[in-house]
Amino acid sequence: MAKSKIAYFCQSCGYESAKWLGKCPSCQQWNTFVEEILEKSSASVPNWKASPASSQRANKPVEVADITFKEEHRLLTPDKEFNRVLGGGIVAGSLVLIGGEPGIGKSTLMLQLALNMPNVKVLYVSGEESDHQIKMRAERLVSLETHEARARNKELKEEFGKGCFILTETSTQNIFKQIEELQPDILVIDSIQTLHSSHVESTPGSVSQVRECTAELLRFAKETSTPVFLIGHITKDGMIAGPKILEHMVDTVLQFEGDRHHVYRILRTIKNRFGSSSELGIYEMLGEGLREVSNPSEILLSQRDEPLSGVTISATLEGMRPMLIETQALVSTSAYGTPQRTATGFDTKRMSMLLAVLEKRCGFRLGAKDVFLNITGGIRVEDPAIDLGLAAAIISSHEDIPIPSKTCFAGEIGLSGEIRAVNRVEQRIAEAQKLGFDQIFISKYNMPTAAKDKKRLDLSRYTIDVKVVGRIEEVFGLLFG
Ligand code: TYD
Ligand code: MG
Repeated sequence: MAKSKIAYFCQSCGYESAKWLGKCPSCQQWNTFVEEILEKSSASVPNWKASPASSQRANKPVEVADITFKEEHRLLTPDKEFNRVLGGGIVAGSLVLIGGEPGIGKSTLMLQLALNMPNVKVLYVSGEESDHQIKMRAERLVSLETHEARARNKELKEEFGKGCFILTETSTQNIFKQIEELQPDILVIDSIQTLHSSHVESTPGSVSQVRECTAELLRFAKETSTPVFLIGHITKDGMIAGPKILEHMVDTVLQFEGDRHHVYRILRTIKNRFGSSSELGIYEMLGEGLREVSNPSEILLSQRDEPLSGVTISATLEGMRPMLIETQALVSTSAYGTPQRTATGFDTKRMSMLLAVLEKRCGFRLGAKDVFLNITGGIRVEDPAIDLGLAAAIISSHEDIPIPSKTCFAGEIGLSGEIRAVNRVEQRIAEAQKLGFDQIFISKYNMPTAAKDKKRLDLSRYTIDVKVVGRIEEVFGLLFG
């Protein structure tokens, strides 16, 4: 028997070392190295027909001007949110990783997609559930939109589930064998951590297995131009190595996130070789699967009649799409020695910065107060334009004065208390106007100075009252008098 080869891998970033190390030289994490046996079997069983020809073919440098540009063919799915997040549909031969915590709905999303594309042959490979379980899930998903369509058209019942093949298999060699027979148009792997390749000795889910299986699937995707979707688990603290090292290998990384106790789920682009990496799709998890949320603003704003203190609306932008979200703050006297600061859906460090600015520049005494921030809907917002809305919510709660309910904010706050410009302010104003708001606060630095730019942001175009402010004190002066 051949002597088995052992290597040590960092579980956090996938760094490989010949000996065990306490601290990873690549990602600086401690105690992340584990031993793995890797023994590449010398007998070359074709994994994905590793073609020696392609590695020997030497490419010559070409001038950019000489490269013929051809638009990638994109396959549009019935799910508009999904298309947008991918940058406009599925690109042939692309390898897409869908990461997320267990139980968030990754399998549901992909199965639903596979079931709703009747003219496309999808192979759904599951290493986690039996075909029986998948059928059960599929039955739940049926009643979604197809339900009504079915009632109208009896033949649809037979159509449903056509073209979606389930394979419960974990060995890549066997999967490729089935693929050659079936010739699917799309391949879905649920999940990459359950696969194993006979070329590597270590257990499924280990760094070397995950890397090898992905490499085989990557080769398959590129050589046959078949799009491949990989589902990958990631735990709260990102401890499973899989998805982290995978990010470098795949074309697109999507993250499926959300609070499991909330109904909203967000599909976020982390990396995309074929489109913008800041797109976002919103879904609602219902009893019968995921439903696209195409008008997020209307859902994220709670319906209320009288204005409450500590509640504001911010005009944020997620990807290309403007979205109005509700932000809430609660400021109360601390009962214990150390004041509590908690933020849900918002960066706690940024919250501390906002509190410091409000204390230092505006003279509000917040140092001994408990402050809680909450972004409704279980959504996490990274857009800095939400700063102004949050600051207004904090002061509104602190002073216990409600903010007029048809008021909206879009501005970043700088350390000296200035309101800084935000990107695409026109879109934000238009969205606020569309949803019937009376006034919106924006930064004066968003106003064009050069005459030629004046046309771009012409405030007379809007019926909504646009309040242009330069400093945070001005905002409070206008709001609270
Ligand atoms: P699942 O897709 O299995 O999650 P993942 O593959 O990311 O681990 O989804 C799990 C949760 O979704 C589960 O707790 C039940 C819920 N769910 C619904 O609420 N409605 C549905 O129609 C389905 C299929 C699942
Ligand atoms: Mg699953």
